[in-house]
Amino acid sequence: MAQQPSILILNGPNLNMLGTREPHIYGAETLADVEALCRAEGARLGLEIDFRQSNHEGELVTWIQQARGNRSAILLNAGAYTHTSVAILDALTAVDLPVIEVHLSNIFRREPFRHHSYVSMAARGVICGLGSQGYVLALQAADRLVRAKAQS
Ligand code: DQA
Repeated sequence: MAQQPSILILNGPNLNMLGTREPHIYGAETLADVEALCRAEGARLGLEIDFRQSNHEGELVTWIQQARGNRSAILLNAGAYTHTSVAILDALTAVDLPVIEVHLSNIFRREPFRHHSYVSMAARGVICGLGSQGYVLALQAADRLVRAKAQS
């Protein structure tokens, strides 16, 4: 494992469209803006950041599997797969890493089908509704979890 804790930040389908996609819900920032925010916070905390996005469920599953033994924690905004993907849930439980679930929007203020999350069943915590700041808060939480584990 790398010397500094390494955090895998995964973004699911349609998050590549941030900035133009329903800005009244998701805000005006692009995914590149979110990545820059995460890299800045990672540098401040001394975390290596591996930031990725895919529209493909299987690719997300593969990346989660590859994190086992190589990453210290996973931050996951699985987009719509949050609400549908048993495969992503199974991958998250298989890798045995701390998982923090992030959503830009407050999924509980939205349509009922967004209220259920398979990801939550594997997550240590969930942050939603705070826009890109949620990623920063999730990184701070991951940092604490990883360093506490390193000391135990
Ligand atoms: C989302 C919420 C999901 O319900 C939706 O399908 C997304 C984005 C969010 O970040 O608010 O694609 O995960």
